[in-house]
Parts: sequence; structure tokens; C-alpha cells
Amino acid sequence: MTGAALESRAGKSRHTLLGLHDVRVHYPMGSDWLGRPKAVAHALNGIDLQVRAGETLGVVGESGCGKSTLAQLLMGLIKPTSGTLDWIYNNPGERSSNVQIVFQDPQSSLDPRLPVWKVITEPLFVQRSAPRRDMRDIAARVASQVGIRTEYMDRFPHQFSGGQRQRIAIARALSSDPDIIVLDEPTSALDISVQAQILNLLAELQRSRNLTYILISHNVSVVRHMADRVAVMYLGQIVELGSASEVLERPRHPYTQLLLEAVPRLGVAVDDAQVSAPTELPGNRNLPTGCFFRDRCPKATAGCEIPQALLPAKGVETGERVRCHLQSG
Ligand SMILES: Nc1ncnc2c1ncn2[C@@H]1O[C@H](COP(=O)(O)OP(=O)(O)OP(=O)(O)O)[C@@H](O)[C@H]1O
Ligand code: SF4
Ligand SMILES: [Mg+2]
Repeated sequence: MTGAALESRAGKSRHTLLGLHDVRVHYPMGSDWLGRPKAVAHALNGIDLQVRAGETLGVVGESGCGKSTLAQLLMGLIKPTSGTLDWIYNNPGERSSNVQIVFQDPQSSLDPRLPVWKVITEPLFVQRSAPRRDMRDIAARVASQVGIRTEYMDRFPHQFSGGQRQRIAIARALSSDPDIIVLDEPTSALDISVQAQILNLLAELQRSRNLTYILISHNVSVVRHMADRVAVMYLGQIVELGSASEVLERPRHPYTQLLLEAVPRLGVAVDDAQVSAPTELPGNRNLPTGCFFRDRCPKATAGCEIPQALLPAKGVETGERVRCHLQSG
């Protein structure tokens, strides 16, 4: 095992499962008469990140900062424009990566025409990783782990409540035994009363199966409750990365500070933009020079005209990193 055990929590060692090195994703937009792009959306601009086996990594940042692009990249749905993704397995070459996702809205993410057992085993069909005759049994086994009764396997998604549908979506994500599960706002479309049940289920499954989660959420309470570490994104970069308690309780980067200040004391949303359509942050087309946050930063000084790297935070030994010369050292 390369990467070595980095951390031990609840007796579990955490080796690096996936390393992203200077990953960029740029989308060409429109084209002129020579076929050249008229503009470029700079969705990810140099992501360096190690995902550790068995952790929950929270990803926060306002709409358009690149969270979904990062998720699509991990799932292999898009390729980096530059940079690399390195999967680290005990036996390299043995298998290819498998990342599954649970979306915000189980209503639209589950195929209404399929019976539940087929919904749950969809990833296995796609990967052809289990014999067809075993699919029903696999579906029933995973369903029972998420609290869906095995006698309901021939029902259709619309015959279940919102919370049950999200359980089915979780079962689908689990059925192919993925390396990472991306949770994209997994509870924000659910009734308040059901949200805690789903979060508890996710936590319980993680403990029993040593799952690795990437949790994308606007909801600080959810991130605080679930995440071991938090990555704060701004304009396609990680501007702060560290343990959830440090990042959320003692934010160091001026952007994280503003983001958390904007959360009402007892409120939950990082911003009000609970929109699913990607939007654009200022500067996404033409990247700013120097620190990307300079235009909006209340603490900007002359030194901020230089591009900032994600460096260890000043005066802390616990591995927190910030992209700000005032806070890193
Ligand atoms: N297919 C695409 N073509 C062109 N630009 C895109 C595409 N997908 C995303 N973008 C741009 O990349 C940037 C990041 O978008 P992304 O969807 O990753 O943001 P997000 O953080 O997930 O936002 P939200 O919180 O709204 O879901 C945005 O500026 C968006 O306009
Ligand atoms: S480098 Fe300067 S502009 Fe950027 S976050 Fe730090 S203080 Fe603000
Ligand atoms: Mg998104």
C-alpha cells in the first residue's frame, strides 16, 4: 500500500485512495467560423487533493465553484483538460475505479419504468460485473441493508415515499461495491423529519462497510454532522482544506470566513442559491490574475497580486491548508 496510513480515527487507518494533481477542467463555449472556441469556462483550476479511504470529505462553496464538475470528473464522465487522477489500489491493474453518486432528488434520479430490483442493480448491469441470474438476490440483500423490505422488489419508484426513494438511490450506489460514493446534496429535497434518518443511515453504512464519501452540500449542519474533512472551493480551486472542526469552527481563509458568516446563526444554508443549473462566478471566463478572491476579499493587500498556492496554515500542526499568504506560512 503506497501513501501509508495517514491518520487513525476510530481505530481505522486511512490510506490515500485517490490523488488529484493540478487538475484543470476547461469547457470550450461556442465556436467562431474557424471552429475555435469563443470563450472558455474555467470550471476547475488546479485541484490538488488526496481522498482517503473510509473518510467523508465535505465539499462546500457557492453555486458555480466547480463542485459538480469535480464529481463528474471522479465518476469518469469527463476527462481533465490537464493534470492527473491517480487511483491507488493494493493491487494495481486489478480493477478500474468505480464511483457512484446519490443525487439530491430521488424523484428524478430513479428510472420510473424499472422495478426496484432493476433500479438497484443498474450499475451492475452497466458494468456487467455480476451474472444476471444473481441480480434479484443482490438487490434484495442491499435493499435490506438500507431498510427497504425485500418483498417490495417488484414495485416501481413512484410507489415509495421520498425518504424510501432516497434509500433506494443509496442501495443503487452501494450495489456495485464502489470505491467512492458522491453524495450530491443527499437530503436537501427531503422532508425535515426524514433528513436525519437518511444521514444516520449513511453514517451507519459507512461504519459497517468502511465507505468513502464525498459530500457536496450547501448545508453547514449536514457537513458538520457528517464530514471528517472539508474542502472549500472558490472559482475552481480549493482555497481551504482541513479537518471539519478546524475549517468550520476556525475558518482561516477570508472566503471561508465570509461563507460561514453568511450562514445565519441557527440557519443551515451556505448560500440561498439552491439551484441545480450551473451558474458562473465572476471571472470564470477570464480568470483573474493573482489571488482569485482578490476582487471580493476584505483583507486584500498589495501582496495578493501574486497567484496563491494551497499551503500549510500558519501556526497549526494538524495539516490544515489555505490558499492565502496572510494565513499560510
Ligand atoms: N457542460 C458545461 N459546459 C460549459 N460550462 C460548464 C459546463 N458544466 C459546468 N460549466 C461551468 O463550470 C462552472 C462550474 O460549474 P459546476 O456545475 O461544477 O458548479 P457547482 O459548484 O456544482 O454549482 P451548483 O452549486 O450550482 O451545483 C460554472 O461556471 C459552469 O457554468
Ligand atoms: S491572498 Fe489576499 S486577496 Fe487572497 S484571500 Fe488572502 S488576503 Fe484575500
Ligand atoms: Mg452542482
